Amino acid sequence: MPSHPVTKITTPDAQLNILQITDLHLSTPVSSMTDSDVDEAMLCQRSFETVVQQALSADIRCDLIVVTGDLVNTVQSTIYDHIFQVLQATGIPFACIAGNHDVTNEIGSDLPFFQRELIAKPADSRLLSRHVIETEYWQLLLLDSSISGKVAGEITPTDINWLCERLSTCDKPALIALHHHIVPVDSDWIDTHMARNSEDFWQHMLGFEHLKVIISGHTHQEQVRLRQGVTVYSTPSTCYQFKPFEDDFAYDQNALPGYRWLQLANNGEVASWVERLDT
Ligand SMILES: [Fe+2]
Ligand SMILES: [Fe+2]
Repeated sequence: MPSHPVTKITTPDAQLNILQITDLHLSTPVSSMTDSDVDEAMLCQRSFETVVQQALSADIRCDLIVVTGDLVNTVQSTIYDHIFQVLQATGIPFACIAGNHDVTNEIGSDLPFFQRELIAKPADSRLLSRHVIETEYWQLLLLDSSISGKVAGEITPTDINWLCERLSTCDKPALIALHHHIVPVDSDWIDTHMARNSEDFWQHMLGFEHLKVIISGHTHQEQVRLRQGVTVYSTPSTCYQFKPFEDDFAYDQNALPGYRWLQLANNGEVASWVERLDT
């Protein structure tokens, strides 16, 4: 069994294969839920487990699983127990960071988005914050961008100092993983809830040419952007998707649950692609 949290990874070749899964949104079905809520809760649980199963049955060695937030829909330690059991059972090192739903309970999910009440919750102690994973050729930096009681996230000045310090002391190619997106995805409603302080972050990253790639969740869709020489990936949810390029909230009913592979080569090159659940 891999120890948790993982801090070092060695691979048998010059490549590190990462499976990114995000926005699991697991709930525990409870008696007060309507039938449709219970169905949706079961759907997300089954979808997460099927994603893990399908990804790990592919003909690719998985060296690390990174879970980029919104593991749960209701903050409850028994739901994390289940998720961690599923991840432990893979025998592969893994790392999880918080999203907004890991530190906030939304009351009134049947109400329009802006009428819901947001209740601040502490993050589960198993979620990582400002965590480093080192490999022979890469430095992986995991950041908690969540704010208790808020949908939007933040990269704080302390986070930026930490990143600058890590990038100054280690010149290996670097990857940053966080929940909130830091480049707009051109949907007004979700772009108002990206990581605050993103411009400050980008200003401080100028000059760190070995920062190669950033992965995030939160947007429930696949996107790729390039900024300052850094490739910035958004990844689909393991459950339900949002419609890209819509200014008002909309589900993408046609998009299947997905996950992302990243292959980090020893020369700093990155190959990455999204897979969807088989129908
Ligand atoms: Fe989410
Ligand atoms: Fe989120």
